[in-house]
Amino acid sequence: MKIEEYIKSLPNDIISGNEVQLPERSFRKIFEFLNLNENDVFYHLGCGDGEGIKIALQEFHVKKAIGVDNSKEKIQQAKKLAEENDLNGENFLCQDAVTAKIDDATAILFWFTDIEIIEKMKKRFQSLQDGCKIVTIWGPLPECLPAQVDFPYIINQVPFKHANLKEQLLAIFGIKCIDFVAAWEYAERYTKAIASHNTENDRFLTILQSLVIWINAKNLGITCEDDIPVPIKNYMEILKKFFGIEVEHLLNDTNLKF
Ligand SMILES: C[S@@+](CC[C@H](N)C(=O)[O-])C[C@H]1O[C@@H](n2cnc3c(N)ncnc32)[C@H](O)[C@@H]1O
Repeated sequence: MKIEEYIKSLPNDIISGNEVQLPERSFRKIFEFLNLNENDVFYHLGCGDGEGIKIALQEFHVKKAIGVDNSKEKIQQAKKLAEENDLNGENFLCQDAVTAKIDDATAILFWFTDIEIIEKMKKRFQSLQDGCKIVTIWGPLPECLPAQVDFPYIINQVPFKHANLKEQLLAIFGIKCIDFVAAWEYAERYTKAIASHNTENDRFLTILQSLVIWINAKNLGITCEDDIPVPIKNYMEILKKFFGIEVEHLLNDTNLKF
């Protein structure tokens, strides 16, 4: 089956990202990267159970921290967490991220994959105060040149600088071309950063991600190799043979297909 069909067969709650919660270590890493401190007004859009807001307040001592989530259940959980930790329940808003008031933000955590939400939020982010940092995970905001990268964490800073996809990729990877090793290293960093550790699953995810990174780079003309490198071919074969998942059709250059 094609990789798109495989992804469709996975539980919708996971693929939509709605039941995906960052581990505590990821929040700490992101907040250190943001240099979050007592001068910051921090918003976590899609705050889930509120753990991120708790860490921002208790460990990074931000001036104000607001978690926004459109799920009543999630906000209830977050308010419970606030109560248990003597935080203010007003730190949590049950609202749509697209309409929530965020004008005073200096730092925002925004991990969404829904392109409609991303496009709407990008417009809103553009009118925030200069210097406001928006952290995204895996990729920058559309057509934005990342201000800082600690892959998979990316800081987009207001006012945004324009970049095309190729410029974005090169800014993220910090190299002139992408080979198999770079694709693998970045895929692994992503898996390690956000997944709960499980060696077997991690390896599978890394294989999928590295193939997708290399193929996208190839389609953009920024791979170091002209042909498909042997390890990429091997992993494509392994995916097809042992997992029944095909990715070759993602390559634009039909001459490369085998
Ligand atoms: C990883 S975040 C983002 C998930 C999002 N559906 C996406 O596009 O990736 C997960 C959290 O965002 C919340 N969420 C999803 N859509 C939202 C929206 N429009 N506004 C606020 N929170 C939202 C979910 O309830 C969940 O707690």
